[in-house]
Amino acid sequence: MKSSLLFTLLLSVFVSTASGETQARAVVEHATPERMIAALRESRGVLPPVPDVHPKRVMFNAEAVVPPQCYTRTEARYNPCYVCHQDPIEGRENVLADGDLQRDYAFSDTGLTNHWRNLFEDRSERVAAASDEEILRYIRQDNYSELPGRLREAGFRGWIPDLDGLESGAAAFDEHGFARDGSGWVAFNYKPLPSTFWPTNGSTDDVMIRLPAAYRTDAGGKPSYDVYRSNLAILEAKIKGLDHISCLPVDERSLGTDLDGDGVLGTAVRITRLDSWTGAAAGEFIDTHLYPQGTEFLHTVRYVGIGNDGGIGVSTRMKEVRYLRKARAAVKAVYARRYQEEGYEKDAGNLPNYVGLGDSGIDNHSGWAVQGFIENAEGRLRALTFEENFSCMSCHNSIGSTIDKTFAFPRKVDGARGWGYIDLKGMPDAPSKGEKTGEIATYLARVGGGSEFRNNDEMERRWFTSGRLDRQKLAGAEDVYDLITPSRERALALNKAYRCIVEDQDFIYGKDSTITPPANVYEAIDNDLTPTLPDQRVFRYNLVLDWGAE
Ligand code: HEC
Ligand code: HEC
Repeated sequence: MKSSLLFTLLLSVFVSTASGETQARAVVEHATPERMIAALRESRGVLPPVPDVHPKRVMFNAEAVVPPQCYTRTEARYNPCYVCHQDPIEGRENVLADGDLQRDYAFSDTGLTNHWRNLFEDRSERVAAASDEEILRYIRQDNYSELPGRLREAGFRGWIPDLDGLESGAAAFDEHGFARDGSGWVAFNYKPLPSTFWPTNGSTDDVMIRLPAAYRTDAGGKPSYDVYRSNLAILEAKIKGLDHISCLPVDERSLGTDLDGDGVLGTAVRITRLDSWTGAAAGEFIDTHLYPQGTEFLHTVRYVGIGNDGGIGVSTRMKEVRYLRKARAAVKAVYARRYQEEGYEKDAGNLPNYVGLGDSGIDNHSGWAVQGFIENAEGRLRALTFEENFSCMSCHNSIGSTIDKTFAFPRKVDGARGWGYIDLKGMPDAPSKGEKTGEIATYLARVGGGSEFRNNDEMERRWFTSGRLDRQKLAGAEDVYDLITPSRERALALNKAYRCIVEDQDFIYGKDSTITPPANVYEAIDNDLTPTLPDQRVFRYNLVLDWGAE
C-alpha cells in the first residue's frame, strides 16, 4: 500500500475490547525515526506502533547505550563519571575494567556526537505556560492500575505488572515491605545512586525484588515467610559480600536450621550461616555477588510528588515502569567471558547489538530480560519501542560499578531495618564502602555541582559557596531527604519540563527534566580539543555503602 501522506498507520486486524485496546499493532510505513515519533504522538494503544522494517534499521541513535551523563564537560576537574565507570573489585562477577572511561572520552565515531538532543531544547516558554494546578492534578492521577488489564486485552505476551496498589506507594506494602496483595514482591529502602534519581534532579523512584517460588516455600511446598525472610537476608549478605546480616525474625524450628549459629533452634534475628539457601531452594546454586535464576526487579520512576503539607515523595502517576528478570543464570567465569567478548566486539569497531525478545523486551547478553512501560502522549502507560528499550542495556550491562548488573539492592540499608518502602527521611548519608565521608557529600565535591550536568542552581545555592562545597552548610542537613529533595517550586518546574517530552513522545532524544539547555554538556566531542581528567581527579568507588555497625 503506497500513500502520499507523510506516514501511514496500517491496522491489519481490528479486535474491539472493553477498554478499546486492539490486539494489532499499528505499522509505520517507510519508517524513519521521525515517523516513528509522529506515529507515537498519535498512538493511543498500550502497544506502540512498529516500523515496517526490522526496528534496528530505524534506530536514530545506534549508540543509545551511551547515556547523556557521558557528555558532561569535565574540564580537567569535575568528575560525575566515577559512579558508573569503575575497575573491578575483587571477588565480584563484574570484571569489566572501564575505570579509564572517567578519563577519556573514548567514544566510537557514532558516539562522538551527543544524540540526546532533548537536552538542548529550551522549554522555558512551555514550562511558564503550564499552571501549577494543572501539573499537580496530572501527577496525582493514577495511570498504573489500568495497565495490567489493558495489556491483557491487547494480548501482550511479556511480563504484565502484578503488584496491586503500587500507584499509592508505601500503602501497597506491610511495615516490612512485603506486598499486601500476596504477589511476593518486596520493597526495600535504598539510597538512590547519584544523581539522576535524586528528586532534586527531576525524578523519584522505588524498587521491589521478588525471588522465585522455591525461595518462598518450605521443603514441603507450602509458602513460608520464614523461608522468604531468611533467603532475602542471605541474598543481601551475598550480594554485598558480608559475612553476617541482621534479618526480620525467623523461626529456626520451622526451617530446622540454626541460622544464627547459637547452637539452638530459636528465633533468629541475625544470620551467620550463609552457605546455602533455605526451604525448597536449599540445594540451589549459591555464590557471592550473584542473584538466583528467576530473580525479578521492578522499578517505578515517577514525577516529584508534592504532598498537601509540601513534603516531597513519589507521585501517584508513573513516568515509567521498569522490569528486569534474570532469565538465565551463569557462573562468574561465564560472565567474565561475556565481558571479554564484548571487549573484542568493541575493539573490532562493532556497534552494540542486542537481541529483541518480542514482548519480553530485550536480552542484555548476560541473562537478564529487560522490559519497560512509559507514558503515551496522553499520559497512559504503553510498552517501550525497540529503541527506547535498547537504551536500558547500557547501565544494566556494560559498566564496571554494578553488581550482577543491578544498582539498588546492593545499596539497601543493611539488614532488618532496610526492609520496607523507600524513605529518605532519617536515612544517613552513609559513605561508600572504604571511605569516611558521606557518599553524597563526596559526590557533590567531586562533581562540583548538584547534578551530573552541574545544572542544578538550587543545589548550588544550598550547599556551595562561590563554587566550592561548603561543609558548614552541609552540616545543617539531617538526612538524605534534606540533601537531595527540591523545593516545591523547583519540583513543579521539573515536572512541567518532563511533561513536554511526554507530549512530544521523543524519548529517543533523551528523558532528562531540563528547562533550559545545560551549559556544561558537550554537543559533540572533539578528540583533539576536549580536555580530559588528570589522574588525581580519577576515583575508585564502591557502589556498596557502609551503613555502620548494625
Ligand atoms: C550513569 C552511569 C554513567 C555515568 C555517570 C557516565 N557514564 Fe559513560 N557510559 C555509561 C554507559 C552505560 C555506557 C555504555 C557502555 C556500553 O554499552 O558500551 C557508557 C559509555 C561511555 C563511553 C563509550 C565507551 C565505548 O566503549 O564506546 C565513554 C567514552 C564514556 N562513557 C565516558 C564517560 C565520561 C567521560 C563520563 C563522565 C563525564 C561518563 N561516561 C559518565 C554510563 C555512564
Ligand atoms: C543511565 C543509567 C540507566 C539506564 C539507561 C537505565 N537504568 Fe535502570 N537503573 C539505574 C539505576 C542507577 C538504578 C537504581 C535506582 C536508584 O538508585 O534510585 C536502576 C534500577 C533499575 C531497576 C531495579 C534493579 C536495580 O538495578 O536496582 C530496574 C528493574 C531497572 N533499572 C530497569 C531499567 C530499564 C527497563 C531501563 C530502560 C528503560 C533502564 N533500567 C535504564 C540506571 C539506569
